[in-house]
Amino acid sequence: MLPQPIIEQLFAIVGQSSVLLETEDLQRFGVDHTSLWLAAPCAVVLPSTVEEVQSILRLANQSNLAIVPSGGRTGLSGGAVAKDGELVVALDRMNQLIEFNPMDRSVTVGAGMITGQLQEFAEQQGLFYPVDFASSGSSQIGGNIATNAGGIKVIKYGMTRNWVVGLKVVNGAGDILELNKGLAKNNTGYDLRHLFIGSEGTLGLICEATIQLTRPPLESSVMVLGVENFTEIVEVLNCFSRDLDLSAFEFFSQQALDKVVAHRGHRVPFQTQAAFYALLEFEHSSPEVVDKAMELFQLCVDRGWVTDGVISQSLTQAQSLWKLREDISETLWQWQPYKNDISVRTSRMADFLLEVEQLVVERYPDFEIIWYGHIGDGNLHLNILKPEVLSVDQFHSKCVNVSAEIGQLLAKYDGSISAEHGVGLLKKDYLHYSRSPVEMDMMRSIKRAFDPQGIMNPGKLFDC
Ligand code: MLT
Ligand code: ZN
Repeated sequence: MLPQPIIEQLFAIVGQSSVLLETEDLQRFGVDHTSLWLAAPCAVVLPSTVEEVQSILRLANQSNLAIVPSGGRTGLSGGAVAKDGELVVALDRMNQLIEFNPMDRSVTVGAGMITGQLQEFAEQQGLFYPVDFASSGSSQIGGNIATNAGGIKVIKYGMTRNWVVGLKVVNGAGDILELNKGLAKNNTGYDLRHLFIGSEGTLGLICEATIQLTRPPLESSVMVLGVENFTEIVEVLNCFSRDLDLSAFEFFSQQALDKVVAHRGHRVPFQTQAAFYALLEFEHSSPEVVDKAMELFQLCVDRGWVTDGVISQSLTQAQSLWKLREDISETLWQWQPYKNDISVRTSRMADFLLEVEQLVVERYPDFEIIWYGHIGDGNLHLNILKPEVLSVDQFHSKCVNVSAEIGQLLAKYDGSISAEHGVGLLKKDYLHYSRSPVEMDMMRSIKRAFDPQGIMNPGKLFDC
């Protein structure tokens, strides 16, 4: 419970109606999409200016109050969970378009802007914001930056980091910092902007972002191909990416497809069943590109890697094929999945996939595993579905062992325990499989430099 004098000071900073104390609001703002922890914030505050954010952080420092930044709360690692009486600072009211600069093709927005709105704005200007994923209709740009969100087009456009040319932040000490100011070139020492990108709210609050936009993509085709095993998916990826500029190369298993078809009413891409499906997309960059793709498809069939396939003939058909992949995540929530979001270099993918598959099949034969992911950029989503007979706690204690074993394998392959969802609360115990003790110490020192009193999102990413 927040002491009354602090509540009064928050009222004075943001106005009484922007301080939420009702249980329903605390529950709503205190969790992310994981639903694994119980929300228990002391209050939720909704600032509308950078100066209000600064006043809140100064008050938090004086009162030794922990802060949890909150965006669209679509996170999958518990990074925005307030479970220990923290003050949630939600950026929902800081959602304005601040400045559009057509010559630079950049736009400055409040961190609370919904990602989909940024995409729509870019489209209205004849431009494109390429970071895209299934939750873009509710995630906020500040949260995307704090977690360096990836998505389905990373193979061509990279992660959120590639598109952030400026940030206005308030660090944990309560200082306002303007980082990089929209510059394309700026070699003036450490680029602090990049420390905030992917920092999961542990260094300060991202208030405004200047985002680089680009030219819209050309018309695209989508192919879905049936493949019988992991090694062959990687062969197909190599074959297509050598000769075509792919904008996506995703994969999912037959089990994932079965669930999406059964629960979302989508149609199967073709009648021949396969163990796995590769979904790839390419732009029509030349008149010959579709013929080239068909030639590569035939080559993959001749080599025995692909058993069947389909290519979109219209935008509507391309969108329907994408739904088969994009709707997997939401479809699986009813089984309370334990999510692994891992990566290795694409050149090591084939060997890693075989080892990880062997590990889960041999060691955890009773678990139903659903495979999908962004295989084109080495990112695998391995979801373990909760068996009905296990309680959530029993299930999680078993999954902890799986994660540790996968962590050891990742360390052997120099891989990452979190390719795109972030570490949050869910993966901090496994961070040491991807980061050395020296790196971890340096990360702690960096946190102390920006947030000397440790008020920013404590317990997320690592324990201090
Ligand atoms: C996806 O690739 O669908 C997202 O990262 C979400 C998920 O892994 O569930
Ligand atoms: Zn993903």
